[in-house]
Amino acid sequence: MQKILVVDFGSQYTQLIARRLRELKIYSEVCPWDEITDIENVEGFILSGGPESSNIEGNPNINSKIFDSGKPILGVCYGMQVLAFQEGGQIVNEGKKEFGHAQIKMESKSSIFDDTDNNFSVWMSHGDKVESLPEGYEVIASSDNSPIAAFQNQVKSYYGLQFHPEVTHTQHGTQIIKNFLKSCNVEPNWDSADILHQIDIDVKESVGNDRVLLALSGGVDSTVLAAVLYKIIGKNLTCVMVDHGLLRKDEAKNVIANLYEKIGLKVYLVNSQELFLGRLEGVTDPETKRKIIGNTFIEVFEEESKKLDGIAWLAQGTIYPDVIESAGNSKSKAKVIKSHHNVGGLPERMNLKLLEPFRMLFKDEVRKIGKELGLPHEIVERHPFPGPGLGIRVIGEVNKERLERLREADHIFLSELKNYDLYYSASQAYAFYMPIKSVGVVGDNRIYADVIGLRSVNTTDFMTAKATNLPHDFIEHVSTRIVNEIDGISRVVYDITSKPPATIEWE
Ligand code: XMP
Repeated sequence: MQKILVVDFGSQYTQLIARRLRELKIYSEVCPWDEITDIENVEGFILSGGPESSNIEGNPNINSKIFDSGKPILGVCYGMQVLAFQEGGQIVNEGKKEFGHAQIKMESKSSIFDDTDNNFSVWMSHGDKVESLPEGYEVIASSDNSPIAAFQNQVKSYYGLQFHPEVTHTQHGTQIIKNFLKSCNVEPNWDSADILHQIDIDVKESVGNDRVLLALSGGVDSTVLAAVLYKIIGKNLTCVMVDHGLLRKDEAKNVIANLYEKIGLKVYLVNSQELFLGRLEGVTDPETKRKIIGNTFIEVFEEESKKLDGIAWLAQGTIYPDVIESAGNSKSKAKVIKSHHNVGGLPERMNLKLLEPFRMLFKDEVRKIGKELGLPHEIVERHPFPGPGLGIRVIGEVNKERLERLREADHIFLSELKNYDLYYSASQAYAFYMPIKSVGVVGDNRIYADVIGLRSVNTTDFMTAKATNLPHDFIEHVSTRIVNEIDGISRVVYDITSKPPATIEWE
């Protein structure tokens, strides 16, 4: 299949470039700059931004195979500078950073700016800049701070942009990417039918008549994966859902009923609530809770799988952002803030082969597939839910009483968001439990009880997020319901902190 390769130099926007291409129905992959091997079927390269300086020995550079291929190149920010540098230009750092909106002005005609304007606003984020161009290159746009804000070598179809076309703040950003794709001669033909067809071929080829086990969490990715695999291998798929007692209200029941009613798939439910809650007794540290939940999950799952005969594969709903993030690149290793887990560690322990049909897909692509297979909107478009579940939403020690109250509060919050048509405009919303005492008055009585927090965020990538601007009346209504309907809760608060500095989950 024809593709565009996004060469990753460590920018926070790299994934966004690949997503923009997929939105334009062009298949794209992200590859760290120092891991490029196979460039067969690559019709063009987009070089991402990055945190380094291009003119320092040993810093990330463009693999010579890319130049040898003769295919078009679009360099963005660092990608632009390193392209200029390796082609013989000069890069300088004057100690001045340009960050935020800037106005660019056309200096010369270029197909990369077809159907845009003579002046428009772009998003800049750089310290270094291109001082002089290599031979054969010309300036095509400038800004006040960057006389060389864009350049081209028309003969080679090499383009450089100091700004970020992949970011929505850049006007005409999508048009610029489309213009680059024209020079690559790629057909926009990547859609959900294609994706499904490809998965069908791959799964049949690798799995054949083997049996496959799937750990269903009830999240979008594993639920859609269950539907996809059931369509391809039918009864050779066994789905197991572990109820660790940390699920939301009616969660297991709804997921299982939906899969059965919509596509006829039966899911085995394992009730391990007592085991999980027993192990969590007295534990307050978030990372310890995560580890206990993760390890117990593996244990239970391993135990259950022993009851099944002849399983050769374990299927997981890993998606592309997980793959990109865990690969990282040698110069941009991110720090561990929280040890997220899904079912990592399972395949080796159980001696199973790993099947990850979504490892090249973004979440919106998984959602499209789910829709195509007839899964209901409320499953396909639901907000993400963390693997450790309510275990990290009861702050401090987790126990049945707290979980019960939290489940009710969360249910009230989410169902009211749906009633008020607000659920789908938020990216993730949930209630959390704060075991701190607050005084309240109910009727003529004083109460001294715990607090429920509400959090709702908007984000595209879950790496940065802003609190949803929920109407005050709405929050007040939810708060009244929670305090009135749930014994043991005296107060409700709404968290308005952005990420960063806060994270989305409290623990
Ligand atoms: P944070 O709290 O890190 O959350 O800002 C970002 C996104 O990740 C989800 N999250 C998790 N998902 N296992 C998961 O599968 C985890 O341990 C975990 N912790 C956070 C969180 O719900 C949000 O969508």
